[in-house]
Amino acid sequence: MAVAGNKPLVEAANAATGEIGTVEGGTLLAQGNTLLGFTPVSLAAGAEGPVPAISPDYEYQVLIPWGTPLDPNGPIQEYTGDPNSRPTAADQAEMIGIGHDGMWLFPIGNGNDHGVLCINHEFGTNPHVLGKSAPETLEDVRLSQHAHGVSVVEIKKISGKWQPVTSDKSRRIHVNTPVTFSGPAANSDLLKTPADHSLSNAKGTVNNCANGYTPWGTYLTCEENFNGYFGSNEGVVFNDNRTPAQERYGFDFDGFGYGWEKFDPRFDLSNAAHTNEENRFGWVVEIDPMDKSQTPVKRTAMGRFKHEGVAVATGRGGRIVCYMGDDEAFDYIYKYVSASNWQAMRRRGISPLDQGKLYVAKFNDNGTGNWLELTINNPVLAAKFSDQAEVLTYARLAADELGATPMDRPEWTTVAPDGSIYCTLTNNSGRQVANGANPLAPNPDGHIIRWRDSQQFTGTTFTWDIFVIARDTHGTETSFADPDGLWADPDGRLFIETDGGQKDGLANQLLVADTNTGEIRRLLTGVDGDEITGLAVTPDRKTLFCNTQHPGNGNPALTNFPAPTDGVTIPRDCTFVVTRKNGGVVGS
Ligand code: FEO
Ligand code: CA
Ligand code: CA
Ligand code: CA
Repeated sequence: MAVAGNKPLVEAANAATGEIGTVEGGTLLAQGNTLLGFTPVSLAAGAEGPVPAISPDYEYQVLIPWGTPLDPNGPIQEYTGDPNSRPTAADQAEMIGIGHDGMWLFPIGNGNDHGVLCINHEFGTNPHVLGKSAPETLEDVRLSQHAHGVSVVEIKKISGKWQPVTSDKSRRIHVNTPVTFSGPAANSDLLKTPADHSLSNAKGTVNNCANGYTPWGTYLTCEENFNGYFGSNEGVVFNDNRTPAQERYGFDFDGFGYGWEKFDPRFDLSNAAHTNEENRFGWVVEIDPMDKSQTPVKRTAMGRFKHEGVAVATGRGGRIVCYMGDDEAFDYIYKYVSASNWQAMRRRGISPLDQGKLYVAKFNDNGTGNWLELTINNPVLAAKFSDQAEVLTYARLAADELGATPMDRPEWTTVAPDGSIYCTLTNNSGRQVANGANPLAPNPDGHIIRWRDSQQFTGTTFTWDIFVIARDTHGTETSFADPDGLWADPDGRLFIETDGGQKDGLANQLLVADTNTGEIRRLLTGVDGDEITGLAVTPDRKTLFCNTQHPGNGNPALTNFPAPTDGVTIPRDCTFVVTRKNGGVVGS
């Protein structure tokens, strides 16, 4: 099959200097022995069904399903999936949300049995959360809003079982939580609304998809399909009067059908008091996992688009480098490079995520590429935008002007210990014209691309190749489609999670690739209707956390997981705690 090993990358741009940057928490390992020692889940065992499957060498435990109280000793009762009841909005604000997605574990002590888990709650449909297709009251809207966002939850392994503990760190961050803005667009009129001209009442994060984390110990949550939560009470006529930016970002009178605008004017695109509210979403948001008094900060220097995730590396001169996908068919891959050494910036009281350059990727067909800077100093952009704040707020439109390469839905990025950056391109059935980096037209099953940047991640040129084309795996034991979640471990393994209709009868899955040999094995499969997403590990990498998101798409006829199969109990998004039975590093 068309799985490339590491060999083609010897021509990487930074090979000339021999420089390889450092990956946070990672070390460089010599290539050689196979990294995959486990028996894979077979096609038959991984078939779609109501319960997950895992390699016989591994086991899993269920952690923090939707509806788990943040405080196990508090007054709030767990919501267990009873189809005849729902949490109150107030209770949901103190519970784990739905739509488990990107996450990271911040260690307490050595972190191997104790830490603070930050986890995204990307979305839950109205039928799943409310038990009906549309909200009927503001209380319904608040329940939906509180089920979205982020959980910060202290967890500990007690008597062999990971569980939430009573904590002064645990908190929920949701659509109505106060937030602040920082960076070049923070004071822009584009973020001011008539109702809140000073941004003193800015609130909320939504559709938190994938994530990142910084070397200074903070969590980064990424706002993806924020457009879908806005609607217009004027109806379809709104669409005729959309601004070019609203159209480019996919705003629509009906949104995704959440109906928040019917009871919460902040999400009504036609409410004059809330003009520009939509510009407050679509950012990377920084959260302090250890201090709940710290307000989440939206980092505008990293641009506004449908942020999938952010992979952070430390580059030449100690500059922080962030790789980010914009998940939409024909959208782009971006990177952010801090202005100078991140430690020096922080010593001066400046966030490394506030001052830096934002670039968008152009993949040339000959295997080279260029990072194009989104700067108002470029006459092409100065002709169309009034200042850097506008360039960042409408980053997609700026990238259009620069001639970035339209990709097949960039999802997660990850930086491997050899300096390669990998990105999942999940699929693009609408592609009619192939290019080198997106070689299939159409591309219904996706692929994974990788590249190496010059100058220890900080340069403006790179070389790239295709790591794997999902279609080439079909009909084999390593069949997969729609790659999405992605994490490179420090040994050279690549963990791949899928989101979409798998082939060969499979449920969505977690696979592990050996990037030295190209071999891929299936570690875990989920349940009917779900996707597998989110990746976090303990520092010793003997425990891995991943999620089943939207199990059964909320339909109890498909699965009742994590409850026993009864055909009635509503399935709930939850985390799998994955360990190797012999106590080895996960993936081995
Ligand atoms: Fe939230 Fe593109 O996945
Ligand atoms: Ca995703
Ligand atoms: Ca996806
Ligand atoms: Ca998803």
